[in-house]
Amino acid sequence: MLTLGIESSCDETAAAVVHGDRDVRSSIVATQHELHVPYAGVVPEIASRRHLECITPVIDEALRTAGVTFDDLNAIAVGHAPGLIGSLLIGVSAAKALAWSLDVPLMGVHHLLAHLHAPALDNEPIQYPAIGLLASGGHTTLTLQHEPMHATVLGQTIDDAVGEAFDKAGTLLGAGYPGGPAIERLAQRGREDAIRLPIARIRGDSLDFSFAGLKTALLYAARGTPVGRGREARFPRDVDSLSDDMRADLAASFQWTAVQSLIRQVDAAMEQHEAQSLIGGGGVLCNTRLRQELEQLAQRHQVDLRIAAPKYCVDNAAMIAGLGHIACAQGHHSDLTLQARARLNLDAQGC
Ligand code: KG4
Ligand code: ZN
Repeated sequence: MLTLGIESSCDETAAAVVHGDRDVRSSIVATQHELHVPYAGVVPEIASRRHLECITPVIDEALRTAGVTFDDLNAIAVGHAPGLIGSLLIGVSAAKALAWSLDVPLMGVHHLLAHLHAPALDNEPIQYPAIGLLASGGHTTLTLQHEPMHATVLGQTIDDAVGEAFDKAGTLLGAGYPGGPAIERLAQRGREDAIRLPIARIRGDSLDFSFAGLKTALLYAARGTPVGRGREARFPRDVDSLSDDMRADLAASFQWTAVQSLIRQVDAAMEQHEAQSLIGGGGVLCNTRLRQELEQLAQRHQVDLRIAAPKYCVDNAAMIAGLGHIACAQGHHSDLTLQARARLNLDAQGC
């Protein structure tokens, strides 16, 4: 049973061929990060235009690498929500056209659920129930899952996503974009305890996250407390005036605080809920420091830690194809009325 997965929700055009739900035969990802560097963030119009150029060659490459042809495919799965609407439309339209012309089932897949299936790719099945940590550029979400297709949201960010905070920190410290890998590199030379930054305290036993305060605290730590108010506010110094050591210390302290903010809530979720596994997906799970802390946490709670391989942490289509296969095997499928949706509640719908 071969599924072609298609993913185009943000700034990666991806296609993959997966046998069953875990055996990845090919996974092709065309990233367009460099197009967005001058803007230090993804520009939706630029992203969708590039998807349009890349989608056909990327699908062809996925088939070629897997050594199959269109006729060998048994189903088409596509990430249809959530994401940038113009970008999603490219993948969804391509998937519909292929499913119709090949006369095979079409499956719309929730991008976030797919991230939480990614740890199973090229690997053993995940044991459920599982606590899931999804941390990416657009989302920071804690889930409780009894199976791959459905998740209960335990907590989510009330402001910035953690990846977004890394991206802004990267720009602020002149480390580059995307900020996650750039901050991680810079942090290697810095001291984690050099600067005290705040971990947000959310009321009661809430499992929500907040990163806006951390971002502002980093800005003030780097440039000093602003003088004046509103548009008149002026920072006492520029980041250019900081020494390399100071920038590295700021990066390391920021990374430590962001990681602890995540770990604290994952720990609380594991106290509150019985789980056999702790699963992690999304670009921020590439972070080595976060992976180390999650390992310790999983050991302490005696659960199986399942973090996606770095190539499956970032946006890819293998996770879409794998979860799409599970949905099809359970008798679900979409039809040609499948809509791309910028937002879709994780609790409300599986695939
Ligand atoms: O999952 P992903 O590829 O795309 C979204 O769906 O958002 O995640 C991209 C995010 C970016 O914010 C990027 O800065 C962050 O993941 N990221 C990292 C690392 N690698 C990527 N954050 C921290 N440390 C990293 N090593
Ligand atoms: Zn993603």
